[in-house]
Amino acid sequence: MLAQRTKRIGVSPTMKVAAEALRLKAQGVDIVDLGAGEPDFPTPQHVSRAAHAAIDANFTKYTTNSGTDELKRAVCERYRADYGVEYTPAEVIITAGGKQALFNSALCLFGAGDEVITHMPGWPTLVEQIKLADAEPVIVRTHAEDGFRLRAEPFLRAITPRTRGIIINSPGNPTGALIDEAAVAAIADEAARREIWILLDLCYEKLIYDAVPHNLPAVLVKRMRDRTVLCGSSSKAYAMTGWRCGWAVAPAPLVAACNALQSHSTSNVCSITQKAATAALTGPQDCVTAMLDEYRVRRDQMCEWLAAEPRLRVAKPSGAFYLFVDVSDFLSPDGLRTTAELAQALLDDARVALTPGEAFDAPGFIRISYATSMQELKRGADRIIEFVHAREARALAQ
Ligand SMILES: Cc1ncc(COP(=O)(O)O)c(C=O)c1O
Repeated sequence: MLAQRTKRIGVSPTMKVAAEALRLKAQGVDIVDLGAGEPDFPTPQHVSRAAHAAIDANFTKYTTNSGTDELKRAVCERYRADYGVEYTPAEVIITAGGKQALFNSALCLFGAGDEVITHMPGWPTLVEQIKLADAEPVIVRTHAEDGFRLRAEPFLRAITPRTRGIIINSPGNPTGALIDEAAVAAIADEAARREIWILLDLCYEKLIYDAVPHNLPAVLVKRMRDRTVLCGSSSKAYAMTGWRCGWAVAPAPLVAACNALQSHSTSNVCSITQKAATAALTGPQDCVTAMLDEYRVRRDQMCEWLAAEPRLRVAKPSGAFYLFVDVSDFLSPDGLRTTAELAQALLDDARVALTPGEAFDAPGFIRISYATSMQELKRGADRIIEFVHAREARALAQ
């Protein structure tokens, strides 16, 4: 009944958890929601004010399909200031979130017979988009013992004559791990030699806790500007997930192809959103730092609370706003067999919503989002630990 391509993909499992938590909350159930993949902070006031002004000025019509000139210039200016890379508006397309920037790029670059390398545990959409482009995902695995670090060697080993692209997400969802500049340089040198594209998913680029070198755009631009795609987003940095605004910064011919694709699918991003995103990118950036500072405090506190139960093995992430916790000690063939079952039991018994590792191709782990208030985090940590102890007591009594 449905087209073949629908059989290759499923609904994003991260969205499934969120939907279930929302449903229960709407019924009045007291859920501690640690599943959210989005900031709990309000959108900064100056950003929202720009949107109000856009409505008042009746800036409510179609814009140029690839985005307004002022927003494309704002993206160029931001990347010049942040990374020292030079781009022109013809090399930018404004998209419905970073997701569409990645999707457009995948569809315009990859096709049947191509292999595209990405990494797991990771954000499932990257793999699904490769499949939607009829290409074959090739997965590089990262490991908890190594802090889920993205190293160059496994990427280099995964390259074959069919490799057409490499997609790297740093800081990564769900691990918060970073790839370092030297690793990107090594991958880029080989990619440049073999005419392979590199797509950087920079969705969490503003959420890095320590002042470590992470100028990945400059590393790529220096080595392979003509095959580099930088995909960014206003979602996480500026607490703008619902506004749906991202961008791809890439060579003009690719941007032109993405523009054609977008012109026959979604057209321009909402005009009002574009005004808001322009204010976000060109306005004061201290709101970003303030949110990052608060995430850092929450991260440290939540790690401390969870440390009360040593079998919840957790390492502090370098970026993003998730703890990726090894819960394999709580799984067994005659009890909770998977983290999907564990997450369901946590929702049913402890009323805590979080995301099972299977969603990120990481059985044995759960993802806890700390993009929520300290009070909710405390309630969540208490409930998780009580849940674990209650199950243990029940097991002992049997
Ligand atoms: C790793 C990663 N990349 C990209 C995105 C896309 O976000 P958006 O489309 O809101 O920019 C997300 C969203 O959760 C993400 O986790």
